[in-house]
Amino acid sequence: MDSMPKKVLVTGGTGYIGSHTTVELQQAGYQVVIVDNLSNSTDKIVGQIGQITGRAPAFYQIDLCDEAALRMVFREHPDLAGVIHFAAYKAVGESVELPLKYYHNNLVSLINLLQVMQESRVYNMVFSSSCTVYGQPDTLPVTEQSPIKKAFSPYGNTKQISEEILADVATVSDLKVISLRYFNPIGAHESALIGELPIGIPNNLVPFITQTAIGLRPKIMVFGNDYNTPDGTCIRDYIHVVDLAKAHVVAMQRMLRQNMETYMEFFNLGTGKGTSVLEAINAFEKVSGLKLNFEITKRREGDVDKVWADVAHANGKLGWKAEEGLEEMMLSAWQWEQNLKAGIL
Ligand code: UD1
Repeated sequence: MDSMPKKVLVTGGTGYIGSHTTVELQQAGYQVVIVDNLSNSTDKIVGQIGQITGRAPAFYQIDLCDEAALRMVFREHPDLAGVIHFAAYKAVGESVELPLKYYHNNLVSLINLLQVMQESRVYNMVFSSSCTVYGQPDTLPVTEQSPIKKAFSPYGNTKQISEEILADVATVSDLKVISLRYFNPIGAHESALIGELPIGIPNNLVPFITQTAIGLRPKIMVFGNDYNTPDGTCIRDYIHVVDLAKAHVVAMQRMLRQNMETYMEFFNLGTGKGTSVLEAINAFEKVSGLKLNFEITKRREGDVDKVWADVAHANGKLGWKAEEGLEEMMLSAWQWEQNLKAGIL
């Protein structure tokens, strides 16, 4: 860490990836200011972060669509070195049902943030993007040069449009952007004090697995076993959320040390390893010692057969590499689920 502690604004900092990133930033010596509207989280996470790191981050319950409120935060913190922007809606199925909700929230938030950053002369942004921008890639593993395919959902489209907005603004201003394209983040912090907090029925595989294991769901539906993969189930690149969080710290350091090669950079964040749905279930069974009830059902609309990352660019240029394996990811997710049941929040 360079001499003075640097201050970073984390939007969506009480969310799943935002909370883990806040922990890693603080542990690397950064001061963190969180802005979050708590639409998909709880302010108890601020206290949990404090327990892990010994210091609760500053927290503002603010909606980024409220530009005036956001401006106040920038006024109170004139010394922000950069912003990590997570705050967004992310439920793929809901975005198909309610496209305007997604376009409005995800895009207005970004535009307001860029506006206020420009006024406040804050020029560094790490953006939370997704491998969903690649659709079903023509070749695997998928590199950052792979073509951007038409989005499958309004959610995916908001990530594509956001990257375009950022590129346009960065072209004509001092803004610098690192866009991190996540593969499938899973798992939880080793303390089991923070983790993924799905509200209602989970859409994603791992929360569904852990909720089934704890008895909240009767069984896991495996969405199709007739894909063009070795065991017929879909393949994804699952990455430990703590590894992912660490990549944000490294990206922010790269910006602040002015090591970027151009005003907007893109990095895939994955392990480079593909895992099928059945392999994921097996790994969970192994670490938990439990047998899971599952059933093969029909395919889920919009799912791609297989996708995993080429991580050479992130490994080389960022100097970052995912460390944790699938079993560590599953074990940490399981410990978190058990803590949730015990009433930790
Ligand atoms: C999904 C989104 C992606 C988003 C990410 C955020 C889709 C099509 N993609 O990724 O855009 O960035 O979440 O977390 O929704 N599965 C089951 N049973 C389940 C749940 C999932 O078999 O109950 C399978 C899916 O078919 C898939 C794999 O598990 O093959 C992973 O699914 P999921 O965790 O929902 O992630 P993605 O769909 O890859």
